[in-house]
Amino acid sequence: MIGILLLLLPFLLYIAAPQIRKMLSSGVCTSTIQLPGKVAVVTGANTGIGKETAKELAQRGARVYIACRDVHKGELVAREIQNMTGNQQVLVRKLDLADTKSIRTFAKGFLAEEKHLHILINNAGVMMCPYSKTADGFEMHIGVNHLGSGVTTYSVHPGTVHSELVRHSFFMRCMWQLFSFFIKTPQQGAQTSLYCAITEGLETRSGNHFSDCDVAWVSAQGRNETIARRLWDVSCDLLGIPMD
Ligand SMILES: NC(=O)c1ccc[n+]([C@@H]2O[C@H](COP(=O)([O-])OP(=O)(O)OC[C@H]3O[C@@H](n4cnc5c(N)ncnc54)[C@H](OP(=O)(O)O)[C@@H]3O)[C@@H](O)[C@H]2O)c1
Repeated sequence: MIGILLLLLPFLLYIAAPQIRKMLSSGVCTSTIQLPGKVAVVTGANTGIGKETAKELAQRGARVYIACRDVHKGELVAREIQNMTGNQQVLVRKLDLADTKSIRTFAKGFLAEEKHLHILINNAGVMMCPYSKTADGFEMHIGVNHLGSGVTTYSVHPGTVHSELVRHSFFMRCMWQLFSFFIKTPQQGAQTSLYCAITEGLETRSGNHFSDCDVAWVSAQGRNETIARRLWDVSCDLLGIPMD
């Protein structure tokens, strides 16, 4: 009997996968707000969670800047989003977070084009890359994920999402593939970023960490003001930015 159950287990899991994934991916941005006249920048929006976030913002009428390091990939996605949403205000600008010169050029260009930035989604990131350095000599993860992306108002964990994030690890790619039925889709992974970006009345919770469209637990180290201040100072120092 147990043998038969074990044999049936993969089949049962396969059948139940959509329900299991639904259960594991709680947190949906239910805001119905429309965003005409609003300007949004989404970094790393040429794929994964960023692409879905950009699509949803465009769907709601915002002018969306896809800030990515590969402009060709960005243009293809911009066209896809334009066709899908009917919103032609989806623009692509070059931004390589592994190069502070590129970041400054992007910021300068943006300031020349736009008077306001209403929504900034610091989405781009890397994971498990082989050891390498940014153009400024920082280790790639700290350079792109922390120094390059700057300091965000909200910190968001999207959950475990089926995307290209694991591209540098064969093992993780296999695991992601194997469990792809259970982990979030990029569209589900985009929900918490969208929730933080467009939900009205969240201002009073600024500085919190969010997951599944709700405030989430943060470790004692993550809440330590002294460590945060030191991280800020060291980051400014590394980037040659005057400390306030
Ligand atoms: N997927 C998950 O389970 C998970 C879990 C926790 C946190 N996150 C975070 O969610 C964010 C989005 O990840 P994802 O899952 O959507 O991964 P993804 O599919 O790999 O997308 C990452 C995006 O970041 C861009 N990027 C990487 N390095 C960059 C650089 N130097 N300059 C500019 N853009 C750069 C990538 O551009 P290219 O296509 O040109 O490489 C890509 O557009 C990341 O910050 C990630 O750390 C994801």
